[in-house]
Amino acid sequence: MLLLTGATGLVGRALLRRLTTAGEPVRCLVRDPRRLGSERVRVQIALGDLADPPSFRNAMRGVRTVVHLAGAIRDQPLGSIEELNGIATWRMVQAAERAGVEHFVFTSALGAVSHDRTRYLRAKALAERAVLASDVRHTVFAPSLYYAPGDPFLTLLERMAMVLPAVPVSGRGLALYQPIWAEDVAEAIAAGLAGPGDGRRRYELAGPQTLSYRQIAEIVLRAAGRPRPLVNVPTPLVSRALRVLETFMQSRTPATWDEAELLEVSMTSPHGSADAESLGVTPRAMAEVLGV
Ligand SMILES: NC(=O)c1ccc[n+]([C@@H]2O[C@H](COP(=O)([O-])OP(=O)(O)OC[C@H]3O[C@@H](n4cnc5c(N)ncnc54)[C@H](OP(=O)(O)O)[C@@H]3O)[C@@H](O)[C@H]2O)c1
Repeated sequence: MLLLTGATGLVGRALLRRLTTAGEPVRCLVRDPRRLGSERVRVQIALGDLADPPSFRNAMRGVRTVVHLAGAIRDQPLGSIEELNGIATWRMVQAAERAGVEHFVFTSALGAVSHDRTRYLRAKALAERAVLASDVRHTVFAPSLYYAPGDPFLTLLERMAMVLPAVPVSGRGLALYQPIWAEDVAEAIAAGLAGPGDGRRRYELAGPQTLSYRQIAEIVLRAAGRPRPLVNVPTPLVSRALRVLETFMQSRTPATWDEAELLEVSMTSPHGSADAESLGVTPRAMAEVLGV
């Protein structure tokens, strides 16, 4: 039995489809099973929440492999970014050790270091440290920015282009990414699970091109048929505006400052797409995936 967290997310959905097609017995730790869609009849369900570590224990019963994808880039009513990414992963590793799990697979992020300016990447660094220190055999995947047509990040950019004559960019938009399609990330994780692997414990998953945030936004807007000029908005102004929006709209806010700040921090690997290729996956360029 394989326990999958984050099965309703961008990569989780793509990975779950691959696992169930391959006939792998899967249990999903979810907050709301309805979000699994048609896959919910093909899997076991464990109700749980990253903010409720005791829920991990039941979910781990009889499990040999844990694939922990669930994470959050904004605070939730039950847990902060630090609790949901850092502490929850640490507690999940502990639960896996106690349950006798044989392999723990974790999705971190490129650029996750304990002194990063963003709360999310600092929390991921803590989580990664807990996984790497574990006695359970483990594999860490650290992706750059990933995306899929229709995902919330692309949709937000497209919506801004629908209503604004120019699309705002937080700061100078010069942070660098190697965007990778969520399907390619899922394929790489599936390959890492299926094969004996090369014994490595950490794979950096990056797309074939290094692009600035501005270049990414231009590709997305062109693909949506709405090319617009981009306007740089000074970071302190973005931070203040988004914090005001969060105060009034709370969880309904279209973007938080923590999310916007992530688009000012580079997420690149010096090896480019080599690690994905070592797993048999050749990541496609963003423009090609979006049909530009
Ligand atoms: N997106 C990127 O560019 C990127 C880059 C590097 C690393 N990552 C990391 O890769 C992993 C997967 O990201 P993603 O973009 O595929 O995810 P996503 O689409 O943002 O979805 C997040 C997943 O985590 C689950 N989740 C969130 N809060 C939860 C909670 N309190 N309890 C239980 N489950 C919870 C969500 O479940 P619900 O359906 O209940 O909301 C969903 O399945 C995450 O750890 C993310 O931090 C992402």
